[in-house]
Amino acid sequence: MKILIVAGARPNFVKVAPLVRALKDVLGVAPVLVHTGQHYEAALSARFFEDLDLPRPDHHLDVGSGSHAAQTAQVMERLDPVLAAERPDVVIVVGDVNSTVAAALTAVKRGIKVAHVEAGLRSFDRSMPEEINRIVTDAVSDLLFVSEISGLHNLLREGVDPLKVRFVGNVMIDALETSRPRWSASDVARRLGIDGGAFGLLTLHRPSNVDDPVTFERLLGAVRLVARRIPVLYPVHPRVRGRLETFDGLAGPGEPGAPPGGLRCVEPLGYIDFVSLMSRASLVLTDSGGIQEETTALGVPCLTLRTTTERPVTTTCGTNRVVGTDPADILSAADAMLSDPPRPAALPPLWDGQAAHRIALILGSANGAAVQTRPSAGLLHAVAFP
Ligand code: UD1
Repeated sequence: MKILIVAGARPNFVKVAPLVRALKDVLGVAPVLVHTGQHYEAALSARFFEDLDLPRPDHHLDVGSGSHAAQTAQVMERLDPVLAAERPDVVIVVGDVNSTVAAALTAVKRGIKVAHVEAGLRSFDRSMPEEINRIVTDAVSDLLFVSEISGLHNLLREGVDPLKVRFVGNVMIDALETSRPRWSASDVARRLGIDGGAFGLLTLHRPSNVDDPVTFERLLGAVRLVARRIPVLYPVHPRVRGRLETFDGLAGPGEPGAPPGGLRCVEPLGYIDFVSLMSRASLVLTDSGGIQEETTALGVPCLTLRTTTERPVTTTCGTNRVVGTDPADILSAADAMLSDPPRPAALPPLWDGQAAHRIALILGSANGAAVQTRPSAGLLHAVAFP
């Protein structure tokens, strides 16, 4: 069985790492790994490959930045000959970035089966580029691996054949668990001078939050007020760098020394250091998708600075609250969370670090391969590609 995995952007690398490992452990298959090059800077790419023990990609498409249309088109154009040469039985795509939808479309048009990991998530906000990518990717996929129960409901409501859908759990939590010894041992808090004290952690890079200067300034104003209560650390995504230069009173990226309070910008962090900080933070403020899930798994309070979430289980089962973008709401929610942190409930179903193992078992049985089973495999049934 030949499996090709496509990854292009920072959150993809986290999801792909457990898959590569499980395919080897369960099926004895070393997948062909394709890096589209959507994210190309070391901090967003090479560093993640190192931190996650990912093998070097077999193919690098070097697409880089561009408009959504250009980026998607270039991935398709450059992946197509790779698929023609490699002739995989199945292409695995993960998440919801431009590389995901581009790879799914390219494979399905070549008649190659597509498996989508993290299928079925919906924010119901079509102004988000990721929502369009999710809908299109799911529509053309042959196997849909779902991370939370809302994903099952969404796909069934959209009329997807239930035989294609498998609820397997969350591969991001697999990555978190596998790397626990390393991030637990990271000394990043000491290196940044915030060891010992309470601190908040901010990530903000969604186009809807940072592209319009007025919206971005309002959000940063709210975070600055939170930062009067606890220092807030902001690892800055490259797409936001230039926009920050217009703001006063922020320590510049990488600036040494830790002010006792306030909002402090630093360069983007690697996976191990970022998870280490997240696990120790008193509060995380974010507009990311994956961070809502990771904070839930870590039991760390999280405020999502958006009006919707495609990951509702993090609010019903977890520590996440979708607070919107109104500064007064952010401030009062931050105060409430710091005074009375949400108590972590049970983990969402199947967020047990075994999602990639289940996916490998299903792919193996779908292809008729002999698979090694573990007790947890009891909840699986053999499937055939529809
Ligand atoms: C992408 C994903 C988003 C994900 C995020 C994680 C899509 C539509 N969006 O958003 O879902 O949360 O990655 O980081 O795929 N840039 C650099 N260096 C890089 C990569 C990007 O400077 O290595 C800058 C470029 O100016 C580029 C801009 O960031 O134009 C946007 O990059 P792109 O990958 O298109 O989208 P992200 O905003 O990173």
